[in-house]
Amino acid sequence: MPAPDYTRSRAYRAAACTHLPFGVSSTPRGRQSPVPVVIEEAQGVHLTDLDGNRYIDFTLGYGPLLLGHTPDCVQAAVTREMARGLRTATVHRGEAALADLLADCVPTAEQTAFVTTGTEAVQLALRIARAATGRLRIAKFRANYHGWIDNVHVAGAPDNDGPCTIGQDPAASANVVLFDWGDAAQLAALDSSFAAVILEPAAINPGCFAPPPGFLDAVRTMTRQHGIVLIFDEVITGFRLGLGGAQQRYGVLPDLTVLGKVLGGGLPIGAVTGRRDIMHDVATGRLLHRGTFNGNPLSLAAGFAAISHLRTHATTLYPRLDAMAAELCAHVNTQAMRAGVAACAQAVGSAVQLFVGTKGLTCISDLTQVDRAETARLTDALLQRGIYALPRGLMYLGTPHDDTDMATTRHALSEALETLRTPPTRQGP
Ligand SMILES: Cc1ncc(COP(=O)(O)O)c(C=O)c1O
Repeated sequence: MPAPDYTRSRAYRAAACTHLPFGVSSTPRGRQSPVPVVIEEAQGVHLTDLDGNRYIDFTLGYGPLLLGHTPDCVQAAVTREMARGLRTATVHRGEAALADLLADCVPTAEQTAFVTTGTEAVQLALRIARAATGRLRIAKFRANYHGWIDNVHVAGAPDNDGPCTIGQDPAASANVVLFDWGDAAQLAALDSSFAAVILEPAAINPGCFAPPPGFLDAVRTMTRQHGIVLIFDEVITGFRLGLGGAQQRYGVLPDLTVLGKVLGGGLPIGAVTGRRDIMHDVATGRLLHRGTFNGNPLSLAAGFAAISHLRTHATTLYPRLDAMAAELCAHVNTQAMRAGVAACAQAVGSAVQLFVGTKGLTCISDLTQVDRAETARLTDALLQRGIYALPRGLMYLGTPHDDTDMATTRHALSEALETLRTPPTRQGP
């Protein structure tokens, strides 16, 4: 097939790098190959780039855009809100409205504190846990991602416990103890010196792993036994695995939950929600919860509109998305076998992970089998066929994806998997 024309995206990147480091505002976006395509317009789940190439979007803003790029309910809410003035950093009725709605949707959402990103929400949750327990140590699981702040931005891969980037302060993670996600036996190392255990209840960032049977129950039992605050990081799973997130899906209730992404309806947001007694220090003002843009009216209005929509349609919308994701995985697994390439897909809810280099994984430590370069080659091949997925192989489904989109995507996946039969052209030394 003829290679798409990326002339304008290439020219933009070259020029953008003059004053914009790496030509982007978040490093992973700059890693898209053969060039980060510059998106000019989005409609539903369809994108058009600067060169006029069209894509079916499966990145969905790295997850938040469960309702696509142009949901009517969010656009109407933001337009209404704009007309009332920005009211940044004022007290406004949208704050309690969204907190009340959360209490209705998320099993443990007794009290909610808003911030602007998931990264900030994680930091606030850890602070609340330390204040509530008077302890410092935090248990974190390898390859789980909790934002880019130095203390938790460590052990990004199962075989590397260090900082995820240069420039981090190693001392910041001195109180962070690492565990292997999914391994209940290791939890015996928890004791009453820990303030919090934080984890992705379904490990989407490592590659869409569902929790092994009994694992979340074991985490809950051990944290309760030692008076440790259990924090579910549901920045991705919240409102994606269902209205009540992973905690509802798996029936295990954390003390605190970190939310973001879908909660903002596509606008920036983060939140910590949870038990009233644990949120007590925030409620009294003893624990400082700060941030100019916290609870900004536009994000809260967008979030309220999106979550209300999800609540109204939850019984049909989530089963449909889950079924579409399962079908996509089955297609990849069948086609990979047919093409004779070591590749596979697995999904949790409507998040799908493509892997090349392995025919199946059982746990996070199996990630060492994955060929990251070949996985990126697969997503490159998809991009050329008009399918926009994250270069690490993650694909998010959204409500606007329709049967035609999915048929086009399956066809593109079949072709892209075939391309892997040709050995990669390796760069010289
Ligand atoms: C599980 C999880 N926690 C926290 C974060 C950080 O959220 P944000 O990018 O909004 O700071 C992310 C971001 O992808 C995430 O996936």
